[in-house]
Amino acid sequence: MPNIIKAQTEEQFNDIGAGIIASLLQSNPKALLGLATGSTPVGVYKRLVELFNEGSVSFAQAQSYNLDEYVGLPADHPESYRRFMDDKLFSLVDILPENTHVPPGSDPDPQQAAAEYTKLLERAGRIDLQILGVGHNGHIGFNEPGEELEGFTHVVTLDESTRKANARFFNSIDEVPVQAITMGIASILHAKQILLMARGADKAEIIARALQGPVTTECPASLLQTHPNVIVLVDQEAGRLI
Ligand code: F6R
Repeated sequence: MPNIIKAQTEEQFNDIGAGIIASLLQSNPKALLGLATGSTPVGVYKRLVELFNEGSVSFAQAQSYNLDEYVGLPADHPESYRRFMDDKLFSLVDILPENTHVPPGSDPDPQQAAAEYTKLLERAGRIDLQILGVGHNGHIGFNEPGEELEGFTHVVTLDESTRKANARFFNSIDEVPVQAITMGIASILHAKQILLMARGADKAEIIARALQGPVTTECPASLLQTHPNVIVLVDQEAGRLI
Protein backbone atom coordinates (compact mmCIF):
# COMPACT_ATOMS: atom_id res chain seq x y z
CA MET A 1 0.00 0.00 0.00
CA PRO A 2 1.33 3.45 -0.82
CA ASN A 3 1.67 6.04 1.88
CA ILE A 4 -1.31 8.36 1.22
CA ILE A 5 -1.19 11.96 2.42
CA LYS A 6 -4.32 14.11 2.11
CA ALA A 7 -3.51 17.80 2.35
CA GLN A 8 -6.17 20.06 3.88
CA THR A 9 -5.21 23.18 1.94
CA GLU A 10 -3.27 24.16 -1.15
CA GLU A 11 -0.59 25.64 1.07
CA GLN A 12 -0.24 22.39 2.97
CA PHE A 13 -0.10 20.42 -0.30
CA ASN A 14 2.77 22.58 -1.55
CA ASP A 15 4.55 22.52 1.81
CA ILE A 16 4.41 18.74 2.00
CA GLY A 17 5.45 18.18 -1.62
CA ALA A 18 8.35 20.63 -1.36
CA GLY A 19 9.27 19.24 2.07
CA ILE A 20 9.67 15.73 0.67
CA ILE A 21 12.02 16.96 -2.06
CA ALA A 22 13.93 19.28 0.32
CA SER A 23 14.45 16.52 2.94
CA LEU A 24 15.91 14.26 0.28
CA LEU A 25 18.33 16.99 -0.82
CA GLN A 26 19.28 17.70 2.79
CA SER A 27 20.14 14.06 3.44
CA ASN A 28 21.57 13.40 -0.01
CA PRO A 29 22.77 16.61 -1.70
CA LYS A 30 23.79 14.63 -4.81
CA ALA A 31 20.29 13.20 -5.27
CA LEU A 32 18.96 12.35 -8.72
CA LEU A 33 15.55 13.94 -9.08
CA GLY A 34 12.98 12.79 -11.62
CA LEU A 35 10.82 15.81 -12.37
CA ALA A 36 7.39 16.41 -13.87
CA THR A 37 5.77 19.45 -15.45
CA GLY A 38 2.04 20.26 -15.72
CA SER A 39 -0.07 22.35 -13.37
CA THR A 40 0.08 19.98 -10.38
CA PRO A 41 3.70 20.58 -9.25
CA VAL A 42 3.77 24.35 -9.93
CA GLY A 43 3.04 25.36 -6.31
CA VAL A 44 5.44 22.72 -5.02
CA TYR A 45 8.26 24.12 -7.17
CA LYS A 46 7.34 27.64 -6.00
CA ARG A 47 7.64 26.53 -2.38
CA LEU A 48 10.97 24.82 -3.15
CA VAL A 49 12.27 28.11 -4.55
CA GLU A 50 11.22 29.80 -1.28
CA LEU A 51 13.04 27.13 0.71
CA PHE A 52 16.12 27.73 -1.44
CA ASN A 53 15.88 31.50 -0.87
CA GLU A 54 15.60 30.89 2.87
CA GLY A 55 18.82 28.86 2.69
CA SER A 56 17.10 25.59 3.68
CA VAL A 57 17.89 23.66 0.52
CA SER A 58 20.51 23.58 -2.20
CA PHE A 59 20.49 21.92 -5.62
CA ALA A 60 24.17 22.65 -6.26
CA GLN A 61 25.13 18.99 -6.45
CA ALA A 62 21.79 17.55 -7.56
CA GLN A 63 20.93 16.19 -10.99
CA SER A 64 17.50 16.31 -12.56
CA TYR A 65 15.89 14.23 -15.26
CA ASN A 66 12.51 15.29 -16.59
CA LEU A 67 9.87 12.83 -17.63
CA ASP A 68 8.86 14.18 -20.97
CA GLU A 69 8.88 16.84 -23.65
CA TYR A 70 6.74 17.72 -26.65
CA VAL A 71 8.17 16.80 -30.04
CA GLY A 72 8.65 19.73 -32.40
CA LEU A 73 8.61 22.69 -30.03
CA PRO A 74 11.86 24.64 -29.88
CA ALA A 75 13.39 24.50 -26.36
CA ASP A 76 12.61 28.20 -25.81
CA HIS A 77 8.95 27.88 -26.89
CA PRO A 78 6.79 29.22 -24.03
CA GLU A 79 5.03 25.85 -23.71
CA SER A 80 8.04 23.57 -24.01
CA TYR A 81 8.70 21.59 -20.87
CA ARG A 82 12.35 22.71 -20.93
CA ARG A 83 11.13 26.31 -20.73
CA PHE A 84 8.62 25.39 -18.00
CA MET A 85 11.40 23.90 -15.86
CA ASP A 86 13.82 26.77 -16.53
CA ASP A 87 11.18 29.38 -15.65
CA LYS A 88 9.61 27.68 -12.65
CA LEU A 89 12.60 26.06 -10.99
CA PHE A 90 16.00 25.77 -12.62
CA SER A 91 16.72 29.49 -13.16
CA LEU A 92 15.48 30.29 -9.65
CA VAL A 93 17.70 27.87 -7.68
CA ASP A 94 21.37 26.89 -7.71
CA ILE A 95 21.10 23.77 -9.88
CA LEU A 96 23.82 23.71 -12.54
CA PRO A 97 22.31 23.98 -16.03
CA GLU A 98 24.45 21.04 -17.18
CA ASN A 99 22.92 18.90 -14.43
CA THR A 100 19.38 19.43 -15.71
CA HIS A 101 18.07 17.04 -18.33
CA VAL A 102 14.86 17.24 -20.35
CA PRO A 103 14.28 14.98 -23.37
CA PRO A 104 15.28 17.03 -26.44
CA GLY A 105 11.93 17.34 -28.21
CA SER A 106 13.29 19.66 -30.88
CA ASP A 107 15.89 17.12 -32.05
CA PRO A 108 15.39 16.45 -35.79
CA ASP A 109 15.53 12.71 -35.02
CA PRO A 110 13.25 12.22 -32.00
CA GLN A 111 13.59 8.40 -32.03
CA GLN A 112 17.35 8.69 -31.77
CA ALA A 113 17.00 11.42 -29.13
CA ALA A 114 14.75 9.08 -27.11
CA ALA A 115 17.28 6.25 -27.37
CA GLU A 116 20.02 8.61 -26.19
CA TYR A 117 17.90 9.73 -23.23
CA THR A 118 17.52 6.08 -22.21
CA LYS A 119 21.33 5.73 -22.28
CA LEU A 120 21.69 8.93 -20.27
CA LEU A 121 19.31 7.57 -17.62
CA GLU A 122 21.16 4.26 -17.54
CA ARG A 123 24.47 6.01 -17.01
CA ALA A 124 22.97 8.22 -14.30
CA GLY A 125 21.86 5.26 -12.17
CA ARG A 126 18.66 4.98 -10.17
CA ILE A 127 16.59 8.11 -9.67
CA ASP A 128 16.22 8.78 -5.93
CA LEU A 129 12.82 10.45 -6.11
CA GLN A 130 10.52 10.48 -9.11
CA ILE A 131 7.82 13.18 -9.08
CA LEU A 132 4.67 12.30 -11.01
CA GLY A 133 1.36 13.90 -11.88
CA VAL A 134 -1.38 11.84 -13.47
CA GLY A 135 -3.51 12.43 -16.56
CA HIS A 136 -7.31 12.00 -16.45
CA ASN A 137 -6.78 8.87 -18.55
CA GLY A 138 -4.21 7.47 -16.12
CA HIS A 139 -1.10 8.42 -18.04
CA ILE A 140 2.13 8.97 -16.12
CA GLY A 141 4.80 10.83 -18.00
CA PHE A 142 3.21 10.60 -21.44
CA ASN A 143 2.74 6.84 -21.23
CA GLU A 144 -0.79 6.74 -22.60
CA PRO A 145 -3.17 3.82 -21.86
CA GLY A 146 -3.04 0.95 -24.31
CA GLU A 147 -2.64 -2.78 -24.75
CA GLU A 148 1.03 -2.51 -24.01
CA LEU A 149 3.37 0.01 -22.51
CA GLU A 150 6.97 0.72 -23.44
CA GLY A 151 9.69 0.35 -20.84
CA PHE A 152 12.20 2.95 -21.89
CA THR A 153 12.23 6.45 -23.34
CA HIS A 154 10.28 6.56 -26.59
CA VAL A 155 8.29 8.73 -28.94
CA VAL A 156 4.57 8.61 -28.27
CA THR A 157 1.53 9.91 -30.12
CA LEU A 158 -0.52 11.83 -27.59
CA ASP A 159 -4.10 10.80 -26.91
CA GLU A 160 -6.71 13.23 -28.17
CA SER A 161 -7.87 13.61 -24.54
CA THR A 162 -4.33 14.61 -23.50
CA ARG A 163 -4.10 17.15 -26.31
CA LYS A 164 -7.50 18.55 -25.31
CA ALA A 165 -6.49 18.74 -21.63
CA ASN A 166 -3.25 20.53 -22.51
CA ALA A 167 -4.87 22.88 -25.05
CA ARG A 168 -5.51 25.23 -22.11
CA PHE A 169 -1.85 26.25 -22.29
CA PHE A 170 -1.90 26.97 -26.06
CA ASN A 171 -3.95 29.36 -28.24
CA SER A 172 -5.86 26.42 -29.71
CA ILE A 173 -5.77 22.63 -29.78
CA ASP A 174 -4.21 22.75 -33.26
CA GLU A 175 -1.06 24.17 -31.70
CA VAL A 176 -0.70 21.29 -29.22
CA PRO A 177 2.02 18.97 -30.52
CA VAL A 178 0.88 15.55 -31.70
CA GLN A 179 3.86 13.66 -30.34
CA ALA A 180 6.06 13.70 -27.28
CA ILE A 181 9.16 11.96 -25.99
CA THR A 182 8.55 10.29 -22.66
CA MET A 183 10.45 8.20 -20.18
CA GLY A 184 8.99 4.68 -20.22
CA ILE A 185 7.28 2.77 -17.46
CA ALA A 186 10.31 0.64 -16.58
CA SER A 187 12.44 3.74 -16.08
CA ILE A 188 9.75 5.34 -13.90
CA LEU A 189 9.33 2.19 -11.79
CA HIS A 190 13.12 1.89 -11.44
CA ALA A 191 13.16 4.99 -9.18
CA LYS A 192 13.93 4.33 -5.52
CA GLN A 193 10.94 6.37 -4.40
CA ILE A 194 7.97 7.86 -6.23
CA LEU A 195 5.87 10.87 -5.25
CA LEU A 196 2.54 10.85 -7.12
CA MET A 197 0.67 14.12 -6.78
CA ALA A 198 -2.88 15.04 -7.79
CA ARG A 199 -5.15 17.97 -7.13
CA GLY A 200 -8.79 18.73 -7.83
CA ALA A 201 -12.10 16.90 -8.09
CA ASP A 202 -11.45 15.97 -11.72
CA LYS A 203 -8.59 13.69 -10.57
CA ALA A 204 -10.58 11.80 -7.89
CA GLU A 205 -11.74 9.00 -10.16
CA ILE A 206 -8.39 8.32 -11.77
CA ILE A 207 -6.62 8.38 -8.40
CA ALA A 208 -9.04 5.74 -7.11
CA ARG A 209 -8.57 3.63 -10.27
CA ALA A 210 -4.80 3.96 -10.07
CA LEU A 211 -4.56 2.96 -6.42
CA GLN A 212 -7.47 0.57 -5.96
CA GLY A 213 -8.36 -0.68 -9.45
CA PRO A 214 -6.79 -3.56 -11.35
CA VAL A 215 -3.14 -3.24 -12.37
CA THR A 216 -3.50 -2.77 -16.10
CA THR A 217 -1.73 -1.06 -18.99
CA GLU A 218 -5.12 0.55 -19.69
CA CYS A 219 -4.41 2.69 -16.61
CA PRO A 220 -0.62 3.22 -16.60
CA ALA A 221 -0.71 4.82 -13.14
CA SER A 222 -2.07 1.54 -11.73
CA LEU A 223 1.38 0.01 -12.32
CA LEU A 224 2.56 2.11 -9.40
CA GLN A 225 0.82 -0.51 -7.22
CA THR A 226 3.76 -2.78 -8.05
CA HIS A 227 6.33 -0.30 -6.64
CA PRO A 228 7.38 -0.75 -3.00
CA ASN A 229 7.95 2.92 -2.13
CA VAL A 230 5.24 5.28 -3.36
CA ILE A 231 3.95 8.38 -1.59
CA VAL A 232 0.62 9.70 -2.87
CA LEU A 233 -0.01 13.36 -2.13
CA VAL A 234 -3.56 14.52 -2.86
CA ASP A 235 -5.78 17.39 -1.84
CA GLN A 236 -9.18 16.68 -0.31
CA GLU A 237 -10.92 16.73 -3.73
CA ALA A 238 -8.53 14.39 -5.55
CA GLY A 239 -8.49 12.10 -2.52
CA ARG A 240 -12.29 11.96 -2.15
CA LEU A 241 -12.63 8.34 -3.33
CA ILE A 242 -9.66 6.77 -1.59
C1 F6R B 1 4.07 16.18 -17.18
C2 F6R B 1 3.56 14.80 -17.23
C3 F6R B 1 2.10 14.51 -17.24
C4 F6R B 1 1.32 15.33 -16.23
C5 F6R B 1 -0.16 14.99 -16.30
C6 F6R B 1 -0.98 15.82 -15.34
O1 F6R B 1 5.48 16.19 -17.21
O2 F6R B 1 4.34 13.90 -17.30
O3 F6R B 1 1.92 13.14 -16.99
O4 F6R B 1 1.82 15.06 -14.93
O5 F6R B 1 -0.63 15.19 -17.60
O6 F6R B 1 -0.94 17.16 -15.73
P1 F6R B 1 -1.50 18.33 -14.81
O7 F6R B 1 -0.61 18.39 -13.60
O8 F6R B 1 -1.38 19.56 -15.66
O9 F6R B 1 -2.90 17.97 -14.47
